[in-house]
Amino acid sequence: MSSQANIDSILKENRMFEPSAAFSSTAHIKSLEEYQRIFKEAEENPDAFWSQIASELHWFRKWDQVLEWELPWAKWFVGGQLNISYNCLDRHLSTWRRNKAALIWEGEPGEVRTYTYQQLHSEVCKFANVLKSLGVQKGDRVAIYMGMTPELPVAMLACARIGATHSIIFGGFSATALIDRINDAQAVAVITQDGAYRRGNEVKLKPAVDEALAACPSVKTVVVYKRTDAEMKMKWGRDHWWHELMENASDDCPAEPLDSEHPLYILYTSGSTGKPKGLLHTTGGYAVSTYLTAKWVFDLKDEDVYWCTADIGWVTGHSYIVYGPLQNGATALMYEGAPNHPAPDRFWQIIERHKVNIFYTAPTAIRAFMKWGEQYPRKYAMKSLRLLGSVGEPINPEAWMWYREMIGRGRCPIVDTWWQTETGAIMITPLPGAIATKPGSATKPFPGIIADVVTKQGDSVPAGSGGYLVIKRPWPSMARTIYGDPDRYVQQYWSEIPGVYFAGDGARKDADGYFWIMGRVDDVINVSGHRLSTMEVESALVAHPMVAEAAVVARPDDIKGQGIVAFVTLESGNASADELKDELKKWVVKEIGALARPDEIRFTDALPKTRSGKIMRRLLREIATSGEAKGDMTTLEDFSVLAALREDEE
Ligand code: WTA
Repeated sequence: MSSQANIDSILKENRMFEPSAAFSSTAHIKSLEEYQRIFKEAEENPDAFWSQIASELHWFRKWDQVLEWELPWAKWFVGGQLNISYNCLDRHLSTWRRNKAALIWEGEPGEVRTYTYQQLHSEVCKFANVLKSLGVQKGDRVAIYMGMTPELPVAMLACARIGATHSIIFGGFSATALIDRINDAQAVAVITQDGAYRRGNEVKLKPAVDEALAACPSVKTVVVYKRTDAEMKMKWGRDHWWHELMENASDDCPAEPLDSEHPLYILYTSGSTGKPKGLLHTTGGYAVSTYLTAKWVFDLKDEDVYWCTADIGWVTGHSYIVYGPLQNGATALMYEGAPNHPAPDRFWQIIERHKVNIFYTAPTAIRAFMKWGEQYPRKYAMKSLRLLGSVGEPINPEAWMWYREMIGRGRCPIVDTWWQTETGAIMITPLPGAIATKPGSATKPFPGIIADVVTKQGDSVPAGSGGYLVIKRPWPSMARTIYGDPDRYVQQYWSEIPGVYFAGDGARKDADGYFWIMGRVDDVINVSGHRLSTMEVESALVAHPMVAEAAVVARPDDIKGQGIVAFVTLESGNASADELKDELKKWVVKEIGALARPDEIRFTDALPKTRSGKIMRRLLREIATSGEAKGDMTTLEDFSVLAALREDEE
């Protein structure tokens, strides 16, 4: 799906799907009127709204003040003390949920493991004691570099339990990317596994940690979970096996009462410069927002099996595999591997096998399913499904309709949820029993979220016009800062447009007040729902001895949403072109990870620049795209709006 076709169809999009009476009657939020009433209450009296929600969680000490706000610095539930691991686990142990499945895990080779709340609690307590025995203390940072095994949520919740701040690094990142992130956070320990299964192969993780740690002096300890049983070198005194440490660990580890603003985790994401930003999330506000959004957006019921297909290495997995669902006492399914292993029907098989009710995935996956063909979902009745979700990038109406018909069988509402690593929780989304959906629109802001589309000066644009997406008031799960770089936090999010949070996305609001997200207006690109910065790829390229200069742009890609095109000038022109192109692609994979592999490298004698020396990315984007696009994209209204917004940035 090219962005041209996407915009084209969005412009023509006027279908609207009301929630069915049957769905609404049992939903948490049952009608548009109810949504509007709650929205209004939350807008007029946010403190009352958020405290009422917060009271549904467990606090060791109640807060004195809901919000302390000094633009752009927020503190939520000030003076309150809680523990999110307590709210995910202990809170359910005195109820019937004690023996309910908290996690159902399916490995790629096919094995299934189920953890009840009681069992998950024991594992988490044991691992929390392991961390303590290794000297990890409250306030320390712990890097986690794992695959999608149950031990990953166990490790997260164990950190949260003792007040250590976790920093999860996606298993697809390279050793070089690990070094930057571990050093930036000054992590004292790394939790990893020997390897992970992906599409029938073993992806090795521990060797990347070994390579990275030569350059990470802060790390004293490594814990290795044995998943694939590959032969491993263990460094004596530094490396420990997970199973050996767990064998004798006690399962008695009371959750530490933590200040509401205690740092829960750091998660690195790409911004418009080469250096990834460590977004810092704290405890109380994040707990409240993820709890409430998971409940209302996914309409979670106790009987549901809920499946979010994201990797926990991204924010979606943090908020909507682990913290949101578990705080609600839900049953979350977790799958280790690829959607097309051993065959392209794996997801549908999983839905059938575990009778999944709620399914949350990404547009890039949906487009891949479309390409693989209807025959795969058609083999399964999937009668258990009642709600579908989408996240990570704009979903084109064609994919939306396919999702609705082919997976939801015309019966399930779709929640297209807009949010970001920075926002911590879902911000713009349908509430499925209340808000009618339009294919391609994330619809309306969640109660308590005051969103708008504005000009660079901060003025609201009229309905139908494009502008910048902003959030006008603080919300509980907002990132508090960029770890170690508060100036960049202010600069990046709170300076572009006066007084409001600037999300970096372009958007349009229609006459019904529905939001249509148009994509990034900065140099962040979205490849298969993974955020990357063009500058990050550029700095990787120029680090190669033969490269003089590089400019990286995105071009539309049918499956991945966006693909990467790199324009490169060489130090000397005597290399064999094809070989060097291959070498440079491999180089980028080594520097960042496979997710950043350029789709195309073009050698050029010079890069087009403005008089002040800035690379004219817009021009390059057009060159990179024109190879594919049929017809003149610039005549399309939205494209030119987006292009103009981007031009502003430059
Ligand atoms: C994009 C992922 C359109 C957007 C949760 C945002 C979306 C970036 C949507 C954040 C959506 C996410 N519709 N665009 N429903 N959801 N995006 O930090 O550009 O990995 O700024 O968080 O993804 O990506 P991140």
